[in-house]
Parts: sequence; C-alpha cells; structure tokens
Amino acid sequence: MIGVFDSGFGGLVVLREFLRRLPRYDYLYLGDNARIPYGTRSDRVVMRFTQQAVDYLFRQGCRLIILACHTASAKALRALQQEYLPEHYPERRVLGVVIPTVEEALARSPQKRLGVIATEGTVASRSFEIELKKLDAGVQVFQQACPLLVPLIEAGEQDWEGTAMILRRYLAPLQEARVDTLILGCTHYSILKEQIAAIMAYEPRLICSGEVTALKLVDYLTRHPEMETRLSRGGRRRFLSTDLTPRFQQLASLFMGQPVDSEVVEL
Ligand code: DGL
Repeated sequence: MIGVFDSGFGGLVVLREFLRRLPRYDYLYLGDNARIPYGTRSDRVVMRFTQQAVDYLFRQGCRLIILACHTASAKALRALQQEYLPEHYPERRVLGVVIPTVEEALARSPQKRLGVIATEGTVASRSFEIELKKLDAGVQVFQQACPLLVPLIEAGEQDWEGTAMILRRYLAPLQEARVDTLILGCTHYSILKEQIAAIMAYEPRLICSGEVTALKLVDYLTRHPEMETRLSRGGRRRFLSTDLTPRFQQLASLFMGQPVDSEVVEL
C-alpha cells in the first residue's frame, strides 16, 4: 500500500495524478485537517505532526509514503529519512514533492531564472532554493511567500476578483525578475493555475508538483523493484482525515475532482 500524506485535503491533487499514472496500487490517503495549516507553523511542530502521521500510515501497513504536503516535505522529510527511518523502519521509505519538482523545473528552465511561490514556512525553510542550487550552483531563485492563498482557496474564493488582486500583488516581483519558470510550491496552488498563467504578462513555464511527482514515482518504482514488488495492488483507495466537517468534504471534492468518502481517525 502507498501512503499519501498532507496537512489537509490539498494533497488529493497529488494523489489524483498518482491514480492516473499508477492506478493498480492500493492507496491510503491521510489529511491532517484537525491541525491544518502547517504553512505557518514552526519547524519543530511540523516535524512532530509529520512524524505522527508517517508513523500512523506505517502502522496501517504502508511500505512507501509520499509527503504530498510541500511544507512537510520542506521541513520534515530530511530528518525523517536520515534519523527516524533508519532507526524505526529501515525497510520502508518516505519521499517528498520538493526534489522531483526541483529536478523538473531545472530541466525545463531555459535561462535558469526560477520563481517559487509557497507557504511562509516553505519559503522560510529555503528548501526549494537549497535543492535547486545543489543541482546547479549558477541558478537564480526568486521566492515569494503567499500566505493568503491557502485560506482563500479553502474558503472557496478562487474565482473572486479579490483573489486575482492578491495574486497580482504576489506575482509582481516575480514578473519583474523575469523568471522563466515558476514552481507552484504548495498543494493548493494548482487550483489557481489558470489565474496565475493569465496574470503573468508573459508565459513562464508553470511547474505543478502533482504531475511531476507522479512521473518521478513511476520512475522510482521502476528503479526500485525491491520496493515495487512489496506494494499491494488491488486498486483500493481509503481516505482518512483527523477531522471531518461538511466543508472539508467539499474541499476534498474540489481537490480530487470527485466526491470522496472519508473516515475520521486519531493519530
Ligand atoms: N499542504 C500545505 C503545503 O503544501 C498547504 C496547506 C498548509 O499550510 O498546511 O504547503
């Protein structure tokens, strides 16, 4: 079984891409809706919450977990991979969305002028910038935190003119910097992909982590048969959430593109 974790239901946009590319595996999705947002929280708290979630998914039988949450990938993944897994689950793996996105963005950027929009926490961690510079020291990275976008999308205001105004303000410095490639570094932002493309006066390449991570996962499973052969494949999907309200259900449908039947769990 493949576990997919996010701070809420935004990660369903990532799961959706996995289901498109890799439909035969069993998936267990966990959204920590009781504690969303992660994007404004400290490293220590994001680490603790993410470790609890990962532990829960492993106890349910997942062998491989993808952190669909960019903030968790940026702040918790490295410590999980380097310290937690070797001690507690040496045979299992946790992967994130930052590295696949960075690799793809660099490959597609002609001038190596990259923009990153993300939560405050992800921007403060500088994870995207650090990983981009590891692959190409000469790359120029322009980051922009967009703290209002998650609450606006969660409130269903993606088509409101106020959202367009706020987006214009966030994107202005990146337009000025003439970034040629723009990473949408948060689960929720692909919902605004068309608005973002329309606002940018010219057309930088937009990189959505869901699509990219799904392609990289196909590649990862091909290169790691020892993991691939241990994943169950009955085409089953289960959706878990640490809280459930009618609004969370609506959001799940928005991100998944179809209604989702979720169960409430305690971590
Ligand atoms: N899932 C988070 C991310 O991708 C966005 C929502 C939050 O702040 O928790 O960064």
